[in-house]
Amino acid sequence: MAESPQRITLRRATPHDIAPLNALIDASVRRLAPGFYDAQQIESSLRHMFGVDSRLVDDGTYFVIEVNGVRAACGGWSGRQTLFGGDQHKADQQATDAPVEPGTVPARIRAFFVHPDFARRGLARRMYEHCAAEARAAGFRALELMGTLPGVPLYRTLGFETLEKVDVLLPDGVVIPCERMRLEL
Ligand SMILES: CC(C)(COP(=O)(O)OP(=O)(O)OC[C@H]1O[C@@H](n2cnc3c(N)ncnc32)[C@H](O)[C@@H]1OP(=O)(O)O)[C@@H](O)C(=O)NCCC(=O)NCCS
Repeated sequence: MAESPQRITLRRATPHDIAPLNALIDASVRRLAPGFYDAQQIESSLRHMFGVDSRLVDDGTYFVIEVNGVRAACGGWSGRQTLFGGDQHKADQQATDAPVEPGTVPARIRAFFVHPDFARRGLARRMYEHCAAEARAAGFRALELMGTLPGVPLYRTLGFETLEKVDVLLPDGVVIPCERMRLEL
C-alpha cells in the first residue's frame, strides 16, 4: 500500500511548546545518543545540559517542525553569546547572554533535536537551512556551534569543520565530549 503524503510544517516555537519540546529532547537523546555516549553521560546531560533555551523562544529564533501536526523536531539559531545549553545549563553558568555583533562574530546554531520516530528523514537539514537563511539575512557571515557527538555527522554533512574538541564538565563531574564547529556562510 502506498504511504500517505506527509504534511511537514516549520513554525516559530512559543512558550506553550517548551514543555512538549523538553519531552521530545528527552526521547531524542535517550534513543539517538546511545553508541555516542554512555548511560551516565545521557542521564547527566539531560539533567544539566540539554533542553530548550527559553531565551531563543523569546527572541523568535527557535523553531518546531511538525509532521502531520505532531512535533517532530526543534532547533534554532542565536545572535547571542551562549553557544549551547538549555535553561538549566545557563542557570548553572550564570550566563549574561549579551548579543554579539553580526558581521564580526558568528551566529550560533542551537539545540537541534529530532524525535527518534522521525530521524533520518531530512528534518534536521531542513531546520538548518531555515536557520542559516535567517542568520544570513540578519547580517551574519559565519555560524558556530557546540556539536554533541551524535550531532557531529549531521554538521559535517552540512559543511561544518571542527575547530576544537571540547570536554564539557557538568556539575556532577560527568564529562561530555563535544566538538566546537564552524561554517562560513
Ligand atoms: C543529530 C540529529 C539532530 C540529526 O537529525 P536528522 O533529522 O536525523 O538528520 P537528517 O535526516 O536531516 O540528516 C541529514 C544528513 O546528515 C547526516 N546524518 C545525520 N544523522 C546521522 C547519523 N546519525 N549518522 C551518520 N550521518 C548522519 C547524513 O548525511 C544525513 O543524510 P542521509 O540521511 O541522506 O544520509 C538527530 O540525530 C538527533 O536529534 N540526535 C540526538 C540529539 C543530538 O545530539 N542533537 C545534536 C545537538 S548538537
